Amino acid sequence: MADFDPVEGAESFDDVAASATAVADLSLTENVPFSGPTDDSTKDVAAKGWSERTPFTYEDYISKEFTEWAGNAKRYEWSDEYGDVGPKNEELENQLFNVENMTQAGLKLDVLNKIEVRTESEERVIPVASWDNAGLHPIMKENISLCLYAAPTAIQMYTIPAMLMDKDLIAISQTGSGKTGAYLIPILSKLMGKAKKLAAPRPNVIGVDFDPKIHGVRAEPLVLVVCPTRELATQIFDDARRLCYRSMLRPCVAYGGVPSRLQREELQKGCDILIGTPGRIIDFMSQGHILSLRHVRFTVIDEADELLHADWEEDFKKIMSGGDATEDDDHRYLMFSATFNKECRQLARNYLGSNHIRIRIGRPGSSHLNVEQQIHYVEDSMKNKALYDLLLSMCPIRTLIFVNSKAQVDYVDDFLYNAGLPSTSIHGDRTQREREDAIRAFKTAKCPIMVATGLSARGLDIANIMHVVNYDLPKSIHGGITEYVHRIGRTARIGNEGLASSFYNEKDQDIAFDLVKILLECNQKVPDFLQDYAPSDNRPVFVDDDTDNENDQNGEEQNGDDQDKKDPWGETSEVNAAESDPSAQQQSPSPPGLGGSNWA
Ligand SMILES: Nc1ncnc2c1ncn2[C@@H]1O[C@H](COP(=O)(O)OP(=O)(O)OP(=O)(O)O)[C@@H](O)[C@H]1O
Ligand SMILES: [Mg+2]
Repeated sequence: MADFDPVEGAESFDDVAASATAVADLSLTENVPFSGPTDDSTKDVAAKGWSERTPFTYEDYISKEFTEWAGNAKRYEWSDEYGDVGPKNEELENQLFNVENMTQAGLKLDVLNKIEVRTESEERVIPVASWDNAGLHPIMKENISLCLYAAPTAIQMYTIPAMLMDKDLIAISQTGSGKTGAYLIPILSKLMGKAKKLAAPRPNVIGVDFDPKIHGVRAEPLVLVVCPTRELATQIFDDARRLCYRSMLRPCVAYGGVPSRLQREELQKGCDILIGTPGRIIDFMSQGHILSLRHVRFTVIDEADELLHADWEEDFKKIMSGGDATEDDDHRYLMFSATFNKECRQLARNYLGSNHIRIRIGRPGSSHLNVEQQIHYVEDSMKNKALYDLLLSMCPIRTLIFVNSKAQVDYVDDFLYNAGLPSTSIHGDRTQREREDAIRAFKTAKCPIMVATGLSARGLDIANIMHVVNYDLPKSIHGGITEYVHRIGRTARIGNEGLASSFYNEKDQDIAFDLVKILLECNQKVPDFLQDYAPSDNRPVFVDDDTDNENDQNGEEQNGDDQDKKDPWGETSEVNAAESDPSAQQQSPSPPGLGGSNWA
C-alpha cells in the first residue's frame, strides 16, 4: 500500500473521491447493484494493489511475557549534570520525530484556520501569529520545529496567550485541528523554565540498573491529562515525549490492560506529566506511596464532553476532586473537545473557575470542509458486497471502518479477510496486547484496513487515514451525530483531505435530520433519499450550539437581571471582538490564515 505524503495524498484524493461517487451512484439504481467478492477475490484484491493478508498467530500470544507496550516507549532521560537544555540523543530523536510516524500537515490547512473564532473572557485574548512571537521556551521552539509544525493552528494561536492569563479554560475546535498541541505546548513551555524548581526529586536513571525498591520515588506530577481511551492516552504520551525532548520534564502514561507493575516502575523513576485513562489513574491515586497529585498545576480533560457523560460521572468526579490535589489558586483546569453541546458546557462549568475563558473555533460539533462526505443507500443484507465494491473501486488507501457492536467488528473483519483483504480489527473485549498489535499493524502498511467500534472514534490521529467508512451509522444510543463527527474526523486531519462513506437505510432514520444538517453545513451533496429531511430553504439551523448565552435553558433567553448574576462576564463578554470593537482589529496581530470574521 502506498503511503502518501501531503502532495501525493492530495493528488490521489480526487481519484479516490471519484471512484466512491461511482459506487454511490450505483446504490441509487435498482436491481441488486453491488457485485461483492467473486470466488477469485484474493486475486482481484492483489491485482488492485492491496498488500497480502497477515494471518493471526495464536502462538505469539501465549509465549513469554510481553514488555513492548506503547506506554513503555523510550522518553528523554534527564541527568542532574545537564545545564538548562539536555544534550541531543540522536537515536531517540530519530525515533520520536520519524516523519513516517507523524501526520504531516496537508495543503488545505487554511480551511481549518479560516473560520469564525469566538472568545469569551474578562480580558481579551490576543492571538499569537507565529511561534516566534508566542513567547515559548527555546527547547519548546526546537521541538516544535522537529515536529515540522510550521505555524500555530487557529486553536493554538488562542490557547497559547490564554494560558498566560492563568484562568481555567474550555476550548473547542474541529477534529484534527491540533488541540493536543494547543494544551501541551503552552503548559510544557511554561514549566520548562521552572522545572528545576518545581519538579519533585528523582533518581538518576542514566547508566544505572534501576531498582525501584532502592532508587524509586513517589510520582508527583505537575500536569495531569485525562482522556477516555487507552489508545488516545498512548498517543498523547507520544506527543508529550516529542515536546518534552531535551527538557527535564518526564512524561508517563497510565492505562488499563497492561500489568500495573510496569507502569508503576516508570512512575517511580519520576513523573512530571501524567497522561492516562480514569480507571488506572484512580487506581494509582489510591496508592498514596506511588502517586500524589498535590503538586498538580494543570489538569487537562481531553474529549471532555465524553468524560462529562453520565457513564463516566463517578470516575470523573473522583479525578476532579480526588486525591490530595491542591484546591488553591495555582491549579488550572482545562477542557478540550471538538464537540461540546450546550448541556455539556453547562456541566463543565461546575468544575471550572467562575471566570474561566471560553474559546471556540467554528461551531461546536461541526465538521469541516476537508472531509468529503458521501452517503450510500445500502440495505443491511447488501452491506458486505457494497463494502467490498467500494474498497476495490479505489486504489489501496488506509481505511478505517466503523460498526456499532463488537460482534459486528468480528463479523466484518472475517468477511474482509476471507475476501482476501488485509484487515485487522479492534474493540473493547480484546486484550490490550491485541489492541496495541491492531493499531501497530494499521499504522504500518501491514494491515491498512481496520474495523472498529466507536471506541476508536475519538482523538485517534493515524497518518494518512484517507477513508473512513460508516458500515453502520451511529444510532442515538451509539452517540448519534456527535459520534458521526468524531468518526469522520479520523480522516482529513490537519489540512489533508479525506473521504467519509456512510451506508444509510431506513433503520438510520433517527440520525437523518442531524446528518442532513451537517451535510448542508459542509456544502456536501444531500442524496435524493435524504431530501425529505432537508429544511425547505436548505439552510441548517443549530439551535443548541449556536447560542452564546450558556445560561439560556431550553433555548430561551433569560431576562437580563438574572443573567448578569449568573454570568460573570455580563456585558464584558467578548464575542467576535473585532466586530464589537473595531479598535481590537488594529491592536491584535493578524494571524496568518485567520480570515473572515473577527480577529483577522
Ligand atoms: N501547528 C501544527 N502544524 C502542523 N501539524 C500540527 C500542528 N499542530 C498539531 N499538528 C498535527 O496535527 C495532527 C492533529 O492534531 P491533534 O490530534 O492534536 O488534533 P485534535 O484537534 O486533537 O483532533 P481530535 O478532535 O480528533 O482529537 C497531529 O498529527 C499533530 O501532530
Ligand atoms: Mg485530540
